[in-house]
Amino acid sequence: MGAIPSRVTVVEVGPRDGLQNEKEVVPTDRKVAFIEALADAGLQVVEATSFVSPKSIPQLADADEVMRRVRFRDGVRYPVLVPNERGLDRAITAGAREIAVFTAASESFARANINASIAESIARFEPVVQRAKAEGMRVRGYVSTCFGCPYEGRVSPQAVVDVASRLLALGIDELSIGDTIGVATPNQVVDLCGLLFAHVEPARCAMHFHDTRGTALANVLAALQCGIAIFDSAAGGFGGCPYAPGAAGNLATEDLLYMLHGMKIETGVSLEKVVAATSLIAGSLSHAPTSKAWQALCR
Ligand code: HMG
Ligand code: MG
Repeated sequence: MGAIPSRVTVVEVGPRDGLQNEKEVVPTDRKVAFIEALADAGLQVVEATSFVSPKSIPQLADADEVMRRVRFRDGVRYPVLVPNERGLDRAITAGAREIAVFTAASESFARANINASIAESIARFEPVVQRAKAEGMRVRGYVSTCFGCPYEGRVSPQAVVDVASRLLALGIDELSIGDTIGVATPNQVVDLCGLLFAHVEPARCAMHFHDTRGTALANVLAALQCGIAIFDSAAGGFGGCPYAPGAAGNLATEDLLYMLHGMKIETGVSLEKVVAATSLIAGSLSHAPTSKAWQALCR
C-alpha cells in the first residue's frame, strides 16, 4: 500500500445530501437535533442545509429556520449549498459562514439539477463567489457526475478537469469531486486524480462518493493512496439527488469511519456517537439506514 494520509477530514453531508431526497418532511427540530448530534460526535464539518429553490428541494425549505435554531459549536464549520445570488443573500442573513456552489461535468445533469448549462452555471457563480469571499466566507465548489451521468452515461476525466479548473479560477477554496450516481471504480479514481492534480493540490480536493453499486469504500482507499484526505459522507448512508434517477445513498459516515479507524487513520470522530445521531434521524424516516457499520453496531 502506498503512503496514505495519517489524518482525514470527514465532511458530514447527512443533514443536506442525506435528507434532500427523503419524501417525509422531517420536522425542523429533528433536523437541528441531528446537526447538533453530528457536531457532538466530533465531526468538524457538518453541511447543514441548502438555500435552493423550495420547489426543487421541498425537504430543505426550512433552511433559514434550521440555521437560526442550530447552536453552533466552536471549531465546527456548517457549510450550506447556494445555487445563485438569491441563495447567498438567504445564507448570509441566516448566519452561514461557509457556502458550496455546485455544477456538473455533464450538460444534461447541470440542466436537470440547476436549470443551467455548465457555462451558465459558472457565470452565475462568479458574483456569488466574489461576494462570499468579500464577506470572508469559505467557498467549496462541487462537480457532480464526475464518473458517469444518469442521462449521458460515461463522462470523460478531461470534462471533469475542465469544469474543476473553471471553478478554481473563480477562487473557490476547496473542490469536491462527486460520483453522483455511484458508478466509479478505483482505477477511474486514480486516473482522474492523475489529471486533476495538475490543477489543484490534493489538500484542497475532496471526494464525494455515493454507494449505489457498493464501490464507495474501495474508491476511498484508491483516493487515499492518491493523497486525498477529505471525504464527504452521510450518517446512516442516507441520501441521493432527486435529479439523479437511480442514485442511492451517500457513502455512510459509519462505514467510512470504521475503515479509517481500522487503518489507524485519525478523524477525531466518535463512531458510536455518529451511530446515535443516525438512530435519531432514522426515527423520522420511513426506511432503515443502509450503513453496514450502523447495522452491525445496532444489532
Ligand atoms: P430556476 O427555475 O431556473 O430559477 O431554478 P429561477 O431563478 O427562474 O427561480 C424559480 C423559482 O425559484 C422562483 O420562484 C424563484 O424565486 C425561486 P417563483 O417566482 O416561481 O415563486 N428561487 C429561489 N427560492 C429560494 N432560494 C433560492 C432561489 N432561487 C430561485 N436560492 C435553481 C434554478 C438553481 C434555483 C433551481 O434549479 C434549484 O434550486 N436547484 C437546486 C437543486 C438541488 O438542490 N439539487 C441537489 C443538490 S446538488 C447534489 O445533490 C449533488 C452533490 O451532492 C454532489 C454529488 O453527489 O454529485 C452536491
Ligand atoms: Mg451527493
